[in-house]
Amino acid sequence: MLRELFTLWRNRGARLARCLGQDREAVSINARHRRCAAAWEPHLAATRTLILDAAQAAVGRETAVVLGSGACLDVPVAELAGLFRQVVLLDAHHPRPAGVLAARFPNVRLVTADATGMVQAARTAAKSRSPLPCPVPRPDPLAGLAPDFTASVNLASQLPIPFYRLLGRRATGTEAEAFCRGLVTAHFDWLASLPGTACLCCDTAWERVDGPKVLERLDALEGVALPAPDRTWIWSIAPRPEESLAYDRQNHVAGFLDFAAAWGAKGLD
Ligand SMILES: C[S@@+](CC[C@H](N)C(=O)[O-])C[C@H]1O[C@@H](n2cnc3c(N)ncnc32)[C@H](O)[C@@H]1O
Repeated sequence: MLRELFTLWRNRGARLARCLGQDREAVSINARHRRCAAAWEPHLAATRTLILDAAQAAVGRETAVVLGSGACLDVPVAELAGLFRQVVLLDAHHPRPAGVLAARFPNVRLVTADATGMVQAARTAAKSRSPLPCPVPRPDPLAGLAPDFTASVNLASQLPIPFYRLLGRRATGTEAEAFCRGLVTAHFDWLASLPGTACLCCDTAWERVDGPKVLERLDALEGVALPAPDRTWIWSIAPRPEESLAYDRQNHVAGFLDFAAAWGAKGLD
């Protein structure tokens, strides 16, 4: 019985990862990190510092949750395990290094879940004429868990990406755009509504640059505007010659130590 439950749980995780394409994405993130480790380090260090500064300000010390933990390159797992009674790492796919790292700490748990809760709705809409959920409901990937600290880590900009593929022929037009924007808004609304302290770290813009010249700039959050962050930095994600000899790719990143306060204040504008 236990073995069946384990297999079910493991396969469900694998199916979700395949469905969202995150198993393949994890392999390419890992490979790019190996090639660009030095260029990525300031971003990874800035993210880890933001998470720890926010975690240290949390009042309760029972449960910490990290959303989008992936390979934990940017997650201070050991430090969080020392600060909280339990640490939950949530992702659609946990690559092997995350499993190895988590196994070193008895109070660190991996949870495989879709942070949007919208995979089934998107697949149904792709196969039928049924409308996409509008507004997108707030997700509930923690199933009732009340964290003292939650960090959403370089995840928000990634949420809509697989849905453009999942939606198939429904992926273009204003309905799909509103749905993908809604995924980001619902994530922010939900994060800000959680008990405890919520920390947000996410890309806000993706750029191709040649020295000081910006060749292309894309909004990373489907047009969802964030309030003023506590910290900002540049993630040199693909310096030459990683993607091209003609340009470097970089992401603008925003960090919030207390996202609920910032997002709530934005609502009061
Ligand atoms: C840019 S990576 C974050 C980097 C990661 N913290 C690390 O150190 O490797 C984005 C992460 O978000 C996860 N992700 C994307 N969409 C997701 C979803 N709908 N639900 C849960 N996780 C998701 C991916 O699997 C990936 O691990």
